[in-house]
Order: sequence, then C-alpha cells, then structure tokens
Amino acid sequence: MEVRFPEDFLFGTATSSHQIEGGNIYNEWYMWERKGKLPECGLACNSWNLYDEDIKLMAKLGYNAYRFSIEWSRVQPKQGAWNDKAIKKYLKVVKALKEYSIEPIVTLHHFTNPAWFFLRKGWEKTENVVFFTEYVEKIVEELVEHVKIWVTINEPSVYAYMGWVSGEYPPFKNNVLLYFRVLRNVLRAHAQAYKIIKRFDINSWIGIAKHFPVFQPAKKYILDQIIVDTADYNFNCIIVEALDKGILPGLFIHRKYKELKGTYDYWGVNYYTRQVLKFNPTRIFTLFAQPLKRVSEEVTDMGWDVYPEGLYNVLMRLKRSGKPIIITENGIATRDDRQRICFIVRHLYQVWRAMNKGVDVRGYMYWSFIDNYEWVEGFKPRFGLVEVDYESFERKPRESALFYGKLAREKKIDEKYLNACLSKAKKLKMLGSSTCDPSS
Ligand code: GCO
Repeated sequence: MEVRFPEDFLFGTATSSHQIEGGNIYNEWYMWERKGKLPECGLACNSWNLYDEDIKLMAKLGYNAYRFSIEWSRVQPKQGAWNDKAIKKYLKVVKALKEYSIEPIVTLHHFTNPAWFFLRKGWEKTENVVFFTEYVEKIVEELVEHVKIWVTINEPSVYAYMGWVSGEYPPFKNNVLLYFRVLRNVLRAHAQAYKIIKRFDINSWIGIAKHFPVFQPAKKYILDQIIVDTADYNFNCIIVEALDKGILPGLFIHRKYKELKGTYDYWGVNYYTRQVLKFNPTRIFTLFAQPLKRVSEEVTDMGWDVYPEGLYNVLMRLKRSGKPIIITENGIATRDDRQRICFIVRHLYQVWRAMNKGVDVRGYMYWSFIDNYEWVEGFKPRFGLVEVDYESFERKPRESALFYGKLAREKKIDEKYLNACLSKAKKLKMLGSSTCDPSS
C-alpha cells in the first residue's frame, strides 16, 4: 500500500509565542506565574533570540510550513503603546521563513493576552473586542505582504473552557454563562479580524484553529449519550454553526450575527484525542459530564488516549462544509520517540484515508517543532520533534524529526514504518460515536 500525499501538501510544525519565545513579561500568564499560581515560563526555549537558528533547522530537516503565533503583549505591552521593534522582529521571522521556502501560518491569538487587557476584564466585555482588532490591524498591515495563511484565534472553545469552566487557566473561573459570553466575544473578534485581513489582501486564507475532540459515551446508556451530545454540541458544533450560519452561541438563546457568517476560508483542525464521558449528577459546571481517565491501552505522557481513528471521523464530519482543511495541530507528549513516530504515521494514515474519501486536506502541522512550555504542566511534557535542553537551549533533533523530514520531502509514508506502526496498533474498541453532524 502506498500512502502518498500531493506534491504541494504542507508538512510543517506548530508552536505558540508564550510557549517558546521566553521573556514574555507583559501578559496575564506572567502575572499569575509571578504569583505562584502557574508554573514559571521564564526564558522558555529562548526562541525570541534563536528564531534564525530554528528556521534554518526546519529548512534543513525538510519541513515546508511553520505555524507560530504573534504575542500581542509583546507588540502592545501597554494600552496604546506599540513596540515597533517587536513588530519588526516578527517581520524578520516571516521573511526568513519565506527565504527558506517555508510557508508561514500566523496565529494572532494563542491563549495569552496583554496584562492591561486582562485587567480590564478582557474577553468578558464586548467593548474590549476593539482592542484586539486594533492590534490585528497593526500586525496585518506589517506582515500581509509575506503571509497568506492566517489563524485568527487558537481554539476558542478550549480557551473559554479552560478559563471560565474548568478554571485551570486565567482568570480561573467556573461560570458557564461567562463561558458563552467569552466565546461570543472571541467569535466577534474573529469576524472583525477576518474583515480586516481581507481588506488588506482579498486572496489571503483565514481560519480559526479549532480543537476537535471526539466525544464518546462511557456506556451505551441514555444519560451518557445525552451528555456526549451536549458536550459535542457546546464544544464543537456551536463553533461550526457560528461560522457557517452566523450564530453567536449561548446556553439557551442563540443570537444572529450576520458579520460572522462564512468568515473562514479553511478549517484549522487541532486534534489530539477522544474524550469518553460519563454522566455525573454532581458535575454541574461541566453540564454533568465527567471524563474517564484511562480508556485504552495506549496513552501519552499527558494521559491522553491515542485514538487516530478520531481524526478520520473529524475530517469526514467537516467534509460537508465544503472548505479545505489544514491540520493545524496534532502531536504527542512522550519520552519514547518511537511512540512519536508511530503516532505521526497512524494519524497521517487517517488523514490519507479521509483524503481518499474526498476530504480536501492541504496540510499537517505537527505539535510541536520543539519541546516547550505546556501551560499548567510546565516543561515536563515533551511534545517536540526536536529536544530542547532548557539550560543551554541547545536543540537536538530526535529520530522523529528526521523521520518526519524524510516524509515531508518524499510526500509519502515509508512503507516499512507504515506496516510496523499499523500492525503494532492495538485494535481499539469503538464505543460508538456522537450524533451531531457539523454543517448539516
Ligand atoms: C492546545 C494549544 C497548544 C498546546 C497543545 C498541547 O491545543 O491546547 O493549542 O498550545 O500546547 O495543544 O497540549
């Protein structure tokens, strides 16, 4: 069997500013890190200073795309004050990428915000959306000549969920109503950003990176199925409906927002795992859903289920939107690099299967290029194709980095690896999948 991808397929990697740059002291994460509420990020991977070296390494390895994010708090450390030096530096980054024929994919918001924005209640207030659009205007004007593919917002549902439902990320709240309010404001911001970018370049490609977990019920039990459908609807479908139909989500009332309708040129898919849910009447904040910890034999160092078939399901569901897809994130935290290679092989195999069924996938960004700061988990998880020594900041490409480079250059999965990884994969029992069909 030959698993081959089109010649112009993008094989890249993904990162985000706060997770790799280091020295980001003007965002709300830093604020809480200092208070001891979050692990310290410090110099992270020192990528702010080593970007040139990193880009050269990507080119040498053979990757042809790179998704990274702009740190808003660096560009605008104080309200109304722009850091032109930082903006110029980001310009250098995109120019360097182009020079090495690496397609830049630029994310405008990846979880962190300037502390001043956060202190004004950030995304909880609709009147604050304009601060984001001012920043977008500034950055796009500067970079648009060299950037074609944009991600406005990374994972709107995860962002709102972690900050306002599970309360693990700033501002650490548990409030479902605020979850919807934040989601609405983030979507408004996306729609505005879309308009701004198109004004500068009508041919640009704009999307959001949407985390699409596959939800499945713990048992064939009506209440488990109901919470699965509810979670799937509130986490996945509302975003799809928002962009397709121009509907702003709410817990009970959904409002029309015309400006949102159709504001995407592609689907950015972040896929990692499935969530197996069980009904628990005491879990009010999570709408009675309790995720099961371990459901299959193979888990990552994050404790996440390895479930490549889920990526196929997600891609097939999105087929109906008729828009192209970029896998904007897919990756594994593991100290076993062989496991990483098989993870990539098995997921890319599912991408290929979906493409054979007519799904228009244009690229795959492995998360992550280098080991980095994994939010509340700190530096422990190792997601990188390239290992980072956090003392010397030395980069050491792992075997997986070379393997992925070869794959990227040849545009096909080496048959030896394909057979070995697919036969090794344990047959996982399907627990039934959810019923909501985005775009239907
Ligand atoms: C996310 C973010 C990344 C994470 C990655 C691994 O999906 O939460 O986009 O910043 O680091 O997903 O958890």
